[in-house]
Amino acid sequence: MLDLIIRNARRAGGDEEPVDMGCREGRIVTVEKNLEAEAAEVFDAKGYLVTAPFVDSHFHMDATLTYGRPRVNQSGTLLEGIALWSEVKPLLDAADIKKRAHQLCRWAAAKGTLAIRSHVDICDPSLLAVEALLEVVEEVKPYIDLQLVAFPQDGFYRDPNAEELLVRALDKGVHVVGGIPHFERSMEDGSRSVTALCELAAERGLMVDMHCDESDDPLSRHVEMLARETTRLGLQGQVAGSHLTSMHSMDNYYVSKLIPLMVEADLNVIANPLINITLQGRHDTYPKRRGMTRVKELAEAGLNVACGHDCVMDPWYSLGSHDMLEVASMGLHVGQMTGQAEMQEMFRSVTVNGAKTLGLDGYGLDVGCHADLVVLQARNEIEAIRLRPARLKVYRRGRLLASAPEQSSTVYWGEEETPVDFMEI
Ligand code: FE2
Repeated sequence: MLDLIIRNARRAGGDEEPVDMGCREGRIVTVEKNLEAEAAEVFDAKGYLVTAPFVDSHFHMDATLTYGRPRVNQSGTLLEGIALWSEVKPLLDAADIKKRAHQLCRWAAAKGTLAIRSHVDICDPSLLAVEALLEVVEEVKPYIDLQLVAFPQDGFYRDPNAEELLVRALDKGVHVVGGIPHFERSMEDGSRSVTALCELAAERGLMVDMHCDESDDPLSRHVEMLARETTRLGLQGQVAGSHLTSMHSMDNYYVSKLIPLMVEADLNVIANPLINITLQGRHDTYPKRRGMTRVKELAEAGLNVACGHDCVMDPWYSLGSHDMLEVASMGLHVGQMTGQAEMQEMFRSVTVNGAKTLGLDGYGLDVGCHADLVVLQARNEIEAIRLRPARLKVYRRGRLLASAPEQSSTVYWGEEETPVDFMEI
Protein backbone atom coordinates (compact mmCIF):
# COMPACT_ATOMS: atom_id res chain seq x y z
CA MET A 1 0.00 0.00 0.00
CA LEU A 2 1.42 3.35 -1.09
CA ASP A 3 0.65 6.79 0.33
CA LEU A 4 0.32 8.53 -3.03
CA ILE A 5 0.18 7.66 -6.71
CA ILE A 6 0.28 10.31 -9.43
CA ARG A 7 -0.86 8.64 -12.63
CA ASN A 8 -0.14 9.80 -16.19
CA ALA A 9 2.59 12.21 -15.13
CA ARG A 10 4.96 13.63 -17.72
CA ARG A 11 8.12 14.22 -15.71
CA ALA A 12 10.07 17.42 -16.36
CA GLY A 13 13.41 16.83 -18.03
CA GLY A 14 12.62 13.30 -19.04
CA ASP A 15 9.64 11.37 -20.17
CA GLU A 16 8.25 11.37 -23.66
CA GLU A 17 5.37 9.22 -22.45
CA PRO A 18 3.48 9.70 -19.18
CA VAL A 19 4.35 7.44 -16.24
CA ASP A 20 2.87 6.58 -12.86
CA MET A 21 4.76 7.73 -9.76
CA GLY A 22 4.29 5.92 -6.47
CA CYS A 23 5.31 7.46 -3.13
CA ARG A 24 5.68 6.05 0.36
CA GLU A 25 6.90 7.64 3.61
CA GLY A 26 7.83 10.88 1.90
CA ARG A 27 9.89 9.37 -0.92
CA ILE A 28 9.31 8.40 -4.54
CA VAL A 29 9.49 4.60 -4.42
CA THR A 30 8.50 3.59 -7.93
CA VAL A 31 8.20 5.12 -11.40
CA GLU A 32 6.65 2.89 -14.06
CA LYS A 33 3.94 2.64 -16.65
CA ASN A 34 0.63 1.11 -15.56
CA LEU A 35 1.63 0.84 -11.91
CA GLU A 36 -0.46 -1.86 -10.26
CA ALA A 37 -0.78 -0.73 -6.68
CA GLU A 38 -3.17 1.01 -4.36
CA ALA A 39 -2.62 4.20 -2.45
CA ALA A 40 -4.34 6.38 0.12
CA GLU A 41 -4.42 9.18 -2.49
CA VAL A 42 -4.45 8.79 -6.25
CA PHE A 43 -4.30 11.75 -8.61
CA ASP A 44 -4.63 11.50 -12.39
CA ALA A 45 -2.31 14.11 -13.91
CA LYS A 46 -3.83 13.45 -17.37
CA GLY A 47 -0.47 13.77 -19.11
CA TYR A 48 0.31 17.15 -17.58
CA LEU A 49 3.83 18.11 -16.52
CA VAL A 50 5.06 17.04 -13.09
CA THR A 51 8.15 18.81 -11.81
CA ALA A 52 10.23 18.78 -8.68
CA PRO A 53 9.48 22.00 -6.77
CA PHE A 54 10.53 25.40 -7.97
CA VAL A 55 13.54 26.85 -6.17
CA ASP A 56 13.99 30.56 -5.51
CA SER A 57 17.75 30.99 -5.22
CA HIS A 58 17.73 34.65 -4.20
CA PHE A 59 15.20 36.46 -2.07
CA HIS A 60 14.88 39.10 0.66
CA MET A 61 12.41 37.77 3.21
CA ASP A 62 12.96 40.56 5.75
CA ALA A 63 11.73 43.24 3.34
CA THR A 64 9.00 41.37 1.49
CA LEU A 65 5.34 42.42 1.61
CA THR A 66 6.14 45.81 3.15
CA TYR A 67 4.55 47.54 0.17
CA GLY A 68 3.07 50.89 1.23
CA ARG A 69 4.92 51.08 4.53
CA PRO A 70 5.21 53.90 5.34
CA ARG A 71 4.71 54.91 1.69
CA VAL A 72 5.17 53.42 -1.76
CA ASN A 73 8.25 53.88 -3.96
CA GLN A 74 6.90 56.62 -6.21
CA SER A 75 9.76 56.69 -8.71
CA GLY A 76 10.36 52.91 -8.80
CA THR A 77 14.11 53.51 -8.67
CA LEU A 78 16.84 51.73 -6.71
CA LEU A 79 17.83 54.94 -4.94
CA GLU A 80 14.32 55.66 -3.66
CA GLY A 81 14.06 51.97 -2.69
CA ILE A 82 17.22 52.23 -0.55
CA ALA A 83 15.91 55.43 1.09
CA LEU A 84 12.55 53.78 1.70
CA TRP A 85 14.16 50.69 3.28
CA SER A 86 15.90 52.94 5.82
CA GLU A 87 12.44 54.34 6.68
CA VAL A 88 10.91 50.86 6.96
CA LYS A 89 13.65 49.30 9.13
CA PRO A 90 12.89 51.25 12.35
CA LEU A 91 9.22 50.24 12.04
CA LEU A 92 9.94 46.50 12.05
CA ASP A 93 9.38 44.17 14.97
CA ALA A 94 9.86 40.42 15.24
CA ALA A 95 6.16 39.56 15.08
CA ASP A 96 5.71 41.61 11.92
CA ILE A 97 8.76 40.08 10.19
CA LYS A 98 7.54 36.58 11.01
CA LYS A 99 3.97 37.29 9.91
CA ARG A 100 5.10 38.60 6.52
CA ALA A 101 7.58 35.73 6.06
CA HIS A 102 4.89 33.15 6.79
CA GLN A 103 2.55 34.84 4.34
CA LEU A 104 5.22 34.89 1.61
CA CYS A 105 5.94 31.20 2.28
CA ARG A 106 2.23 30.45 1.78
CA TRP A 107 2.34 32.31 -1.54
CA ALA A 108 5.44 30.31 -2.49
CA ALA A 109 3.78 27.00 -1.54
CA ALA A 110 0.73 27.86 -3.63
CA LYS A 111 3.05 28.45 -6.60
CA GLY A 112 4.95 25.20 -6.01
CA THR A 113 8.15 26.83 -4.74
CA LEU A 114 9.37 24.72 -1.82
CA ALA A 115 12.93 25.99 -1.39
CA ILE A 116 14.00 29.60 -0.91
CA ARG A 117 17.40 31.11 -0.20
CA SER A 118 16.84 34.45 1.51
CA HIS A 119 19.38 37.13 2.34
CA VAL A 120 18.82 38.77 5.72
CA ASP A 121 20.22 42.21 6.50
CA ILE A 122 22.61 41.88 9.46
CA CYS A 123 23.40 45.63 9.69
CA ASP A 124 21.18 46.07 12.73
CA PRO A 125 22.76 45.84 16.20
CA SER A 126 19.69 44.02 17.56
CA LEU A 127 19.81 41.36 14.79
CA LEU A 128 16.03 41.40 15.05
CA ALA A 129 15.40 40.09 11.54
CA VAL A 130 18.07 37.38 11.89
CA GLU A 131 16.48 36.00 15.05
CA ALA A 132 12.94 36.25 13.68
CA LEU A 133 13.81 34.52 10.40
CA LEU A 134 15.81 31.76 12.13
CA GLU A 135 12.57 30.96 13.98
CA VAL A 136 10.68 31.01 10.68
CA VAL A 137 13.20 28.53 9.19
CA GLU A 138 12.19 26.00 11.85
CA GLU A 139 8.48 26.81 11.68
CA VAL A 140 8.20 26.35 7.91
CA LYS A 141 10.54 23.33 7.75
CA PRO A 142 7.68 20.84 7.26
CA TYR A 143 6.66 22.76 4.14
CA ILE A 144 9.55 24.78 2.76
CA ASP A 145 13.35 24.62 2.89
CA LEU A 146 14.34 28.16 3.85
CA GLN A 147 18.06 28.94 3.79
CA LEU A 148 19.42 32.24 5.19
CA VAL A 149 22.37 34.31 3.99
CA ALA A 150 24.05 36.80 6.36
CA PHE A 151 23.89 39.91 4.20
CA PRO A 152 25.79 43.09 5.17
CA GLN A 153 23.46 45.41 3.24
CA ASP A 154 25.33 48.58 4.31
CA GLY A 155 28.75 47.14 3.43
CA PHE A 156 31.01 44.68 5.31
CA TYR A 157 33.63 47.43 5.81
CA ARG A 158 31.53 50.50 5.00
CA ASP A 159 29.37 49.82 8.06
CA PRO A 160 31.80 49.78 11.01
CA ASN A 161 29.68 47.24 12.91
CA ALA A 162 28.97 44.85 10.04
CA GLU A 163 31.98 42.56 10.54
CA GLU A 164 31.10 41.80 14.16
CA LEU A 165 27.36 41.55 13.42
CA LEU A 166 27.91 39.15 10.54
CA VAL A 167 29.96 36.81 12.74
CA ARG A 168 27.25 36.99 15.43
CA ALA A 169 24.59 36.12 12.84
CA LEU A 170 26.63 33.07 11.76
CA ASP A 171 27.06 32.06 15.41
CA LYS A 172 23.29 32.15 15.79
CA GLY A 173 22.96 29.65 12.95
CA VAL A 174 22.62 31.58 9.68
CA HIS A 175 23.62 29.13 6.96
CA VAL A 176 25.47 31.10 4.27
CA VAL A 177 28.01 33.97 4.18
CA GLY A 178 26.90 37.02 2.16
CA GLY A 179 28.57 40.19 0.94
CA ILE A 180 28.19 43.28 -1.21
CA PRO A 181 31.69 44.21 -2.48
CA HIS A 182 30.53 46.77 -5.09
CA PHE A 183 28.95 48.83 -2.30
CA GLU A 184 32.19 49.18 -0.29
CA ARG A 185 33.92 52.58 -0.46
CA SER A 186 36.57 51.53 -2.97
CA MET A 187 37.38 48.70 -5.34
CA GLU A 188 40.18 47.74 -2.94
CA ASP A 189 37.80 47.57 0.05
CA GLY A 190 35.45 45.48 -2.07
CA SER A 191 38.27 43.06 -2.93
CA ARG A 192 39.33 42.82 0.70
CA SER A 193 35.73 42.07 1.71
CA VAL A 194 35.56 39.20 -0.81
CA THR A 195 38.75 37.72 0.65
CA ALA A 196 37.67 38.11 4.27
CA LEU A 197 34.20 36.68 3.67
CA CYS A 198 35.44 33.70 1.66
CA GLU A 199 38.04 32.96 4.36
CA LEU A 200 35.31 33.15 7.02
CA ALA A 201 33.21 30.66 5.03
CA ALA A 202 36.19 28.33 4.52
CA GLU A 203 37.00 28.35 8.25
CA ARG A 204 33.42 27.48 9.16
CA GLY A 205 32.67 25.09 6.28
CA LEU A 206 29.87 27.33 5.01
CA MET A 207 28.64 28.27 1.57
CA VAL A 208 29.05 31.80 0.16
CA ASP A 209 26.48 33.84 -1.75
CA MET A 210 27.39 37.46 -2.48
CA HIS A 211 25.57 40.28 -4.14
CA CYS A 212 28.44 40.81 -6.54
CA ASP A 213 28.83 43.66 -9.01
CA GLU A 214 25.13 44.54 -9.05
CA SER A 215 25.97 47.65 -11.04
CA ASP A 216 26.29 48.93 -14.58
CA ASP A 217 30.02 49.58 -14.08
CA PRO A 218 31.96 47.79 -16.85
CA LEU A 219 35.19 48.12 -14.84
CA SER A 220 33.97 46.46 -11.67
CA ARG A 221 36.16 43.42 -10.94
CA HIS A 222 34.62 41.69 -7.93
CA VAL A 223 33.36 38.67 -9.89
CA GLU A 224 36.98 38.01 -10.86
CA MET A 225 38.02 38.29 -7.21
CA LEU A 226 35.20 36.00 -6.10
CA ALA A 227 36.33 33.38 -8.63
CA ARG A 228 39.97 33.75 -7.59
CA GLU A 229 39.29 33.41 -3.87
CA THR A 230 36.95 30.47 -4.44
CA THR A 231 39.70 28.61 -6.29
CA ARG A 232 42.44 29.63 -3.86
CA LEU A 233 40.47 28.40 -0.85
CA GLY A 234 39.21 25.21 -2.49
CA LEU A 235 35.58 26.30 -2.25
CA GLN A 236 34.63 25.15 -5.75
CA GLY A 237 30.90 24.50 -6.03
CA GLN A 238 30.20 26.13 -2.65
CA VAL A 239 30.11 29.74 -3.84
CA ALA A 240 27.41 31.69 -5.63
CA GLY A 241 27.66 35.08 -7.29
CA SER A 242 24.32 36.87 -7.23
CA HIS A 243 23.26 39.45 -9.81
CA LEU A 244 26.66 39.91 -11.60
CA THR A 245 25.00 42.64 -13.68
CA SER A 246 28.27 44.45 -14.39
CA MET A 247 29.07 41.53 -16.71
CA HIS A 248 26.34 42.86 -19.02
CA SER A 249 28.36 46.04 -19.53
CA MET A 250 31.87 44.59 -19.58
CA ASP A 251 34.14 44.56 -22.57
CA ASN A 252 33.83 41.29 -24.50
CA TYR A 253 37.58 40.67 -24.46
CA TYR A 254 37.67 40.90 -20.67
CA VAL A 255 34.66 38.59 -20.36
CA SER A 256 36.51 36.02 -22.50
CA LYS A 257 39.08 35.89 -19.68
CA LEU A 258 36.57 36.08 -16.83
CA ILE A 259 34.22 33.23 -17.77
CA PRO A 260 37.00 30.56 -17.76
CA LEU A 261 38.02 31.77 -14.29
CA MET A 262 34.42 31.32 -13.16
CA VAL A 263 34.37 27.84 -14.66
CA GLU A 264 37.63 26.99 -12.87
CA ALA A 265 35.99 28.10 -9.60
CA ASP A 266 32.79 26.19 -10.41
CA LEU A 267 30.83 29.29 -9.37
CA ASN A 268 27.08 29.13 -9.16
CA VAL A 269 25.52 32.10 -10.93
CA ILE A 270 22.24 33.61 -9.74
CA ALA A 271 20.43 36.04 -12.04
CA ASN A 272 17.46 38.09 -10.87
CA PRO A 273 15.83 39.14 -14.13
CA LEU A 274 12.64 40.74 -12.79
CA ILE A 275 14.52 43.13 -10.56
CA ASN A 276 17.59 43.87 -12.66
CA ILE A 277 15.63 44.64 -15.83
CA THR A 278 13.83 47.32 -13.83
CA LEU A 279 16.63 48.68 -11.63
CA GLN A 280 19.72 48.60 -13.88
CA GLY A 281 20.49 50.92 -16.75
CA ARG A 282 18.73 53.82 -15.06
CA HIS A 283 21.51 56.24 -15.93
CA ASP A 284 21.22 55.35 -19.61
CA THR A 285 19.16 57.32 -22.09
CA TYR A 286 19.22 55.27 -25.30
CA PRO A 287 20.38 52.67 -26.01
CA LYS A 288 19.36 51.46 -22.56
CA ARG A 289 21.26 48.48 -21.19
CA ARG A 290 19.25 45.48 -20.04
CA GLY A 291 21.25 44.95 -16.88
CA MET A 292 20.96 41.18 -16.63
CA THR A 293 24.11 39.11 -16.43
CA ARG A 294 25.13 37.03 -19.46
CA VAL A 295 22.89 34.07 -18.69
CA LYS A 296 23.12 32.49 -22.12
CA GLU A 297 26.91 32.66 -22.35
CA LEU A 298 27.45 31.54 -18.76
CA ALA A 299 25.16 28.53 -19.23
CA GLU A 300 26.86 27.68 -22.53
CA ALA A 301 30.22 27.71 -20.72
CA GLY A 302 28.85 24.97 -18.44
CA LEU A 303 28.23 27.11 -15.35
CA ASN A 304 25.27 26.33 -13.14
CA VAL A 305 22.91 29.29 -13.67
CA ALA A 306 19.93 29.69 -11.36
CA CYS A 307 17.41 32.49 -10.98
CA GLY A 308 15.90 34.31 -8.04
CA HIS A 309 12.76 36.37 -7.51
CA ASP A 310 14.75 38.78 -5.29
CA CYS A 311 11.77 40.96 -4.28
CA VAL A 312 7.99 40.81 -3.95
CA MET A 313 6.08 43.96 -2.98
CA ASP A 314 8.91 45.63 -1.08
CA PRO A 315 10.70 49.02 -1.23
CA TRP A 316 12.47 48.07 -4.46
CA TYR A 317 9.72 46.28 -6.36
CA SER A 318 6.00 46.95 -6.08
CA LEU A 319 4.99 43.91 -8.13
CA GLY A 320 5.19 40.11 -8.04
CA SER A 321 3.31 37.14 -6.64
CA HIS A 322 6.35 34.92 -6.06
CA ASP A 323 5.90 32.93 -9.24
CA MET A 324 9.23 31.43 -10.37
CA LEU A 325 7.78 30.83 -13.84
CA GLU A 326 7.36 34.60 -14.18
CA VAL A 327 11.05 34.89 -13.30
CA ALA A 328 12.00 32.27 -15.90
CA SER A 329 9.83 33.99 -18.50
CA MET A 330 11.44 37.38 -17.87
CA GLY A 331 14.94 35.87 -17.95
CA LEU A 332 14.18 34.10 -21.20
CA HIS A 333 12.97 37.31 -22.84
CA VAL A 334 15.70 39.59 -21.52
CA GLY A 335 18.42 37.09 -22.42
CA GLN A 336 16.87 36.35 -25.83
CA MET A 337 16.90 32.67 -24.90
CA THR A 338 14.21 31.61 -27.32
CA GLY A 339 16.01 28.54 -28.70
CA GLN A 340 14.36 25.25 -27.71
CA ALA A 341 17.33 24.12 -25.57
CA GLU A 342 17.62 27.63 -24.11
CA MET A 343 13.98 27.65 -23.00
CA GLN A 344 14.53 24.27 -21.34
CA GLU A 345 17.58 25.75 -19.61
CA MET A 346 15.46 28.60 -18.22
CA PHE A 347 13.04 26.05 -16.74
CA ARG A 348 16.03 24.35 -15.10
CA SER A 349 17.20 27.74 -13.76
CA VAL A 350 14.17 27.81 -11.46
CA THR A 351 14.22 24.10 -10.60
CA VAL A 352 17.26 21.76 -10.69
CA ASN A 353 19.90 24.47 -11.08
CA GLY A 354 18.53 26.23 -8.00
CA ALA A 355 18.55 22.95 -6.07
CA LYS A 356 22.23 22.50 -6.97
CA THR A 357 23.04 26.06 -5.89
CA LEU A 358 21.34 25.58 -2.51
CA GLY A 359 22.88 22.12 -2.06
CA LEU A 360 19.47 20.48 -1.55
CA ASP A 361 19.62 16.74 -1.08
CA GLY A 362 16.98 14.30 -2.24
CA TYR A 363 15.77 16.74 -4.89
CA GLY A 364 14.41 15.34 -8.14
CA LEU A 365 11.90 13.07 -9.79
CA ASP A 366 13.70 9.72 -9.61
CA VAL A 367 13.13 6.80 -7.27
CA GLY A 368 14.61 7.63 -3.88
CA CYS A 369 14.05 11.39 -4.13
CA HIS A 370 11.76 13.25 -1.75
CA ALA A 371 8.11 13.05 -2.80
CA ASP A 372 8.05 16.82 -3.36
CA LEU A 373 6.04 17.14 -6.56
CA VAL A 374 4.23 19.88 -8.45
CA VAL A 375 1.59 19.11 -11.08
CA LEU A 376 1.24 21.96 -13.57
CA GLN A 377 -1.63 22.54 -15.98
CA ALA A 378 0.78 22.45 -18.91
CA ARG A 379 2.09 19.65 -21.10
CA ASN A 380 5.78 20.53 -21.12
CA GLU A 381 8.37 22.96 -19.72
CA ILE A 382 8.11 25.49 -22.56
CA GLU A 383 4.33 25.59 -22.23
CA ALA A 384 4.73 26.07 -18.49
CA ILE A 385 6.89 29.15 -19.06
CA ARG A 386 4.47 30.44 -21.71
CA LEU A 387 1.34 30.04 -19.60
CA ARG A 388 2.53 30.27 -16.00
CA PRO A 389 -0.32 27.83 -15.38
CA ALA A 390 -2.27 26.64 -12.37
CA ARG A 391 -0.37 24.51 -9.89
CA LEU A 392 -3.01 21.81 -9.77
CA LYS A 393 -1.35 19.90 -6.93
CA VAL A 394 1.67 20.64 -4.78
CA TYR A 395 2.92 17.76 -2.63
CA ARG A 396 5.52 17.97 0.13
CA ARG A 397 6.93 14.64 1.30
CA GLY A 398 3.97 12.94 -0.36
CA ARG A 399 1.31 15.01 1.40
CA LEU A 400 -0.91 17.59 -0.26
CA LEU A 401 0.35 21.10 0.50
CA ALA A 402 -1.57 23.22 -2.03
CA SER A 403 -4.09 22.75 -4.82
CA ALA A 404 -5.82 24.81 -7.48
CA PRO A 405 -8.62 24.07 -9.97
CA GLU A 406 -7.92 23.66 -13.68
CA GLN A 407 -8.28 26.96 -15.46
CA SER A 408 -10.38 27.50 -18.55
CA SER A 409 -12.38 30.36 -20.00
CA THR A 410 -15.57 30.20 -22.03
CA VAL A 411 -15.94 32.49 -25.02
CA TYR A 412 -19.46 33.32 -26.23
CA TRP A 413 -18.89 33.87 -29.92
CA GLY A 414 -22.12 34.25 -31.90
CA GLU A 415 -24.18 31.14 -31.29
CA GLU A 416 -21.17 29.13 -30.05
CA GLU A 417 -19.79 28.66 -26.59
CA THR A 418 -16.13 27.71 -26.89
CA PRO A 419 -13.83 26.70 -24.04
CA VAL A 420 -10.39 28.30 -24.24
CA ASP A 421 -7.43 26.84 -22.34
CA PHE A 422 -4.61 28.44 -24.39
CA MET A 423 -3.25 24.97 -25.24
CA GLU A 424 -5.52 23.75 -28.01
CA ILE A 425 -4.62 25.40 -31.33
FE1 FE2 B 1 19.26 40.86 -3.74
